[in-house]
Formats: sequence, C-alpha cells, structure tokens
Amino acid sequence: MEDYRKIFRLVRPYWPRVVLAILAGLIVSGLNAALAWLAKPAMDDVLIKKDARLLVLLPLALFLIFLGRGIFTFCQEYLMASASQKLVMHFRNGLYSRSIELPLGYFGKNSSGEMISKVINDVTALQNLLSFTIKDLFKEGATALALLGVAFWRRWDLALISITVLPLALYGVGSLGKRMRRISRRAQEKISHITEFLSESYAGIKIIKAFCRQAGEAGRFEEITRDYYRENMRATRVSQFAALIMEAVGGLGIAFVIWYGGRLIIRGVMTAGDFTSFLTAIFLVYTPAKRLAQINIGIQQARPPLERVQKLLSEPGEQDGSADLPPIRRSIEFKNVSFVYASARQKALHGINLRISKGEIIAIVGKSGGGKTTLANLLPRFYVPTEGAVCIDDVDISTATFASLRGQFGIVTQEVILFNDTIAANIAYGKPGAASEEIVAAAQAAYAHDFIAELPQGYDTMIGERGMRLSGGQRQRLSIARAILKNPPILILDEATSSLDTASEMMVQKALENLMANRTTIVIAHRLSTVKKADRILVLEKGRIAESGSHRELYARGGLYKDLYDLQFSAQETA
Ligand SMILES: Nc1ncnc2c1ncn2[C@@H]1O[C@H](COP(=O)(O)OP(=O)(O)OP(=O)(O)O)[C@@H](O)[C@H]1O
Ligand SMILES: [Mg+2]
Repeated sequence: MEDYRKIFRLVRPYWPRVVLAILAGLIVSGLNAALAWLAKPAMDDVLIKKDARLLVLLPLALFLIFLGRGIFTFCQEYLMASASQKLVMHFRNGLYSRSIELPLGYFGKNSSGEMISKVINDVTALQNLLSFTIKDLFKEGATALALLGVAFWRRWDLALISITVLPLALYGVGSLGKRMRRISRRAQEKISHITEFLSESYAGIKIIKAFCRQAGEAGRFEEITRDYYRENMRATRVSQFAALIMEAVGGLGIAFVIWYGGRLIIRGVMTAGDFTSFLTAIFLVYTPAKRLAQINIGIQQARPPLERVQKLLSEPGEQDGSADLPPIRRSIEFKNVSFVYASARQKALHGINLRISKGEIIAIVGKSGGGKTTLANLLPRFYVPTEGAVCIDDVDISTATFASLRGQFGIVTQEVILFNDTIAANIAYGKPGAASEEIVAAAQAAYAHDFIAELPQGYDTMIGERGMRLSGGQRQRLSIARAILKNPPILILDEATSSLDTASEMMVQKALENLMANRTTIVIAHRLSTVKKADRILVLEKGRIAESGSHRELYARGGLYKDLYDLQFSAQETA
C-alpha cells in the first residue's frame, strides 16, 4: 500500500490529466463490458430467433463500441503519457539541479557514470512505473470488475465457481514480486556499469589507442553487457512466469465453467445466449486480470531505482552560509587548519597557520602530493577543514554565502576544464553577458588573442568536448583569460603556466603580473623561476609548512627550498 501511496503523491501535481485519463479508461472498461453484454442478444435473438431488425442494429452497435474503444484508448494513453512525461521532465530537472549542489566530496565517491545513470536510467524506470501502474490499475481494474458484473448478472453461480481459483493465482504472483525486486536492483546496477564504462572509455579514447587496448576494452564491455542481458532475461522469466500462472489458472477456470455450463444448457436450465454472454465476459476478463497480476511485479521492479533516486535527493548538499562576505579588506587567515579527504586515512594538511595580507603574492612550492592544491581548495570552500578554520578579515568563511565567497576568487585550476562551447562563451563563463570588447581584452591580457584570431571562426569557434580541438597551452591561456575577465580580488593560480613553452610562459607571466597588481594572489608552481618574484614563498612538505620567506631568505637558509631550486637549475643547465 505504501508503494501505491508514494506513486500517487508523485503524480498529484498533474491530477487533472490523470483524472481525465482514468475517466477515459473507465469508459473503455464500460465498452468492454457492453461487448460481453451484447453477446446474449446476438446469440438468442439474432442467431436463434432470427430477428432481422436486430441483425442490422447489432453490427452497428458493435462497430460503434469498437470505434469508441479506439477513441477513448487514444485519449487515455495520450493524457497519461503527457502526465508521466511531464512528471519525469520536472523530476529529472530537479534531480540534476540538486545533484550539482552536492559537495565535491560526493563526486569523489560516486563516478560520473553512476550519476548519469541515475538521471537517465533510474528516472526512466520511474516513468515506466507511472504510466503503467496508474493506467492499468484503473482501466484494467475497472474492466475486470465490469466484466465480472456481467458474468454475475448472467449466471451468478457459474461466476462464483470461476473466481474461486483466483486466490491461487494471487498467491503465486505475489511471491514472484519479491524476487523481481532483487533482480531488478541488480539489473539497474548493471546498466549503471554500462554508462560508467562508456563515459570513461570515450573520455580516455586516446589512451585506449595509445596502448592498443581496443580489443581488451571491447571484451570488458561485452562482459558488462552480457551481465546485463542475463539479469534482463531473469526479469523476463519472472514476469512471464506470472503471466503463465494466470494463464494456467484461467484455463482451469474456463474448462470447468464450460463443462458445468454445458450441462446446464443440455438440461435446458440456461439459454445459449446467457452462456455465450457469460463466456465472453470470462474470456475478456482474462487480459485485465493478467495485467493486474503484473502491476505488482512492475512496482517491485521500479522500487530500487526509486530508492536510489530518493537517496540522492536526501544527500546533504553543500551547506551555504547565511552572511554575505564583504570584499576582502585586510587578510586571509588559516587558523590551525587540518584536513583529511573523506576517502583517505592520512591528513593531507596538518595544523596550517598562515596569514596572507591583502595584495600579497604568495607562492606555494613543494614536492608533488605535498598538499598545495588541497590548501588552495579550502579557500573557496570546495572542501571544509576537518579542524581549524579559514577566515577572511576574521570572518570564518564557512558562515559566508557561496556567492559572496566564491565571487571573490578567480581560479585557474591544475586540470584545465573547458566546456564544449565557443571560445567567447568559455572566456565569459564567469561573467555571462560580457561585452565582446571585454572578452577580447581578457584574451589579449592572457596572450590568447593571437591564436584565437587565427582560427577560422575566431571567437565563435567551438572548441570540442573539454577543449579537445585546442593545444594544451591554448587551453591554459583560455582558462587564464576566463579568470582575468571575472576580475576578482583574489587569484588562485594552480600550475597556471605549466603547459606553456618558455616564450609564451614569459608572456603569460607578464600578463599574470599585470593581473596580480592590486590583487591577493596564491600561485602554485613547480617551476621555481616563476615564483622568485613572490612576496613570500611557502614550502609545503607532507601537508606541513616546512619553510616560509622570500626567495633570497630561503635560498640563503640552505633548506628544502635550496635543494629544490638547485635541483631544477642543475637539471636545466645539463639540458
Ligand atoms: N580527492 C582526493 N581524495 C583523496 N585524497 C586526495 C584527493 N586529492 C588529493 N588527495 C591526496 O592528498 C594529498 C595532497 O594532494 P594535493 O593534490 O594537494 O598535492 P599537490 O601538492 O597539489 O601535488 P601536485 O604538485 O602533484 O599537484 C596527496 O597525498 C593526494 O593523494
Ligand atoms: Mg596540485
């Protein structure tokens, strides 16, 4: 019952359509009953009494009944489809907009393929459930009742006999429902494996080719689809087995009815017309009974996807703060900050204490995996510190709204993320509706204008998925232009110049220097030549600040920084 209530709660906003669809379905049920009803005059009056006037009227009535069935079935299907499609559309939109509000940590645990599968496959399962259950429940339910009514009217004793077998069928079908739920849960998992696999392998097509792994990948895919095939066949067996039970039980009932009814006719207790009408009703009740039996199985089948979607909807989203953070005036401060990734055991940052004054340029260097990106990620609150707090002007950023906090940052991430849109749209991503002069100015500042101007469609060039049609350095310059256009008070540059050649790096470096003026900047770089000019350099070692000072101070100190620096320059000199 709880399942049915849930379904009705879902369709409530679309009730006018649903009610009309149900009404149309009820008319179809009535027409079905009329068909059985008319079997009696057809037999007794036309065939036996040879009534010529009825011979004209009856076929006409039959034609009208069939026509009516067609028309009202059309209305019913159309209305029901529009209600369920509409519901699914809104549901899917809600699911997507909710899912992108989830914290980054959630996406670390759930693959993008899984997410895609939820939004596409699970929601489709929901749609099937709605259109089938609600439609069938009413139409087939009413048809069955109306036909049974005709049967009882004609011969109540025979009708009673023929429904005694019903509990038998219900029991069999009910026990299949539970199995169906298990199978369907597995089938849904399999389909999410398929989407997951596909989204990964198309994204990694270059590596697949480079390592000649096509055959291997095709083999893995075949395994996954074979699993899915097996689960589907299992599901088909169960649901068709339910149909088979109904078939067998129904056959038993009808065989008995014919035997018993035949005897009544032979003894002259019942007319042939009554019997024909009764039999027609019983035959016609058959299809709706079978479908009703399958509704329960359908509901069991739709339960796992519904549960999964509900689980996603109940995930806590990113906790937005309530206060608007004013633009930075004095400083950013890390107060005894430690951080552990949810999926990791070790701390990525240990007790970081750091004060960055407004307008300062801070460079963060250190070995790979030292925690540089992690440190930068805490600033726009991509992640929340496990201990301690990050403050801007002594306000804990966890109390600030995302819009007021993230609006202050321009971020050039380590992995360049671009969207499959035009160059102009990608640059203006953080400032929709920017004037084209602004976009060009930003591109010029990022030394991207020249290569863009050489493209056949210039700023209107589509760059392909994740910017596939551009070179690595070009992509990086676009992401710098994107940060420049936003014109934020705080800049985070994570390896912003790592894929540029030395000549363009120097140019971009100049551009960034212009950009850094009057801004607070956090630069993460492996190439130490790019960090020499920073006001302060921090060396992060295993999540701790090991050294801090200017280039001169740190070099003179002869610690980690000197080692890193010497290593890099001796390597360059040998090259
Ligand atoms: N999403 C994540 N989930 C779990 N652990 C992570 C995650 N991202 C990073 N780590 C771990 O946290 C530590 C610090 O990683 P981080 O990305 O901050 O290093 P980094 O200093 O930026 O290195 P690189 O110079 O290579 O970019 C590493 O040990 C890494 O394995
Ligand atoms: Mg990093």
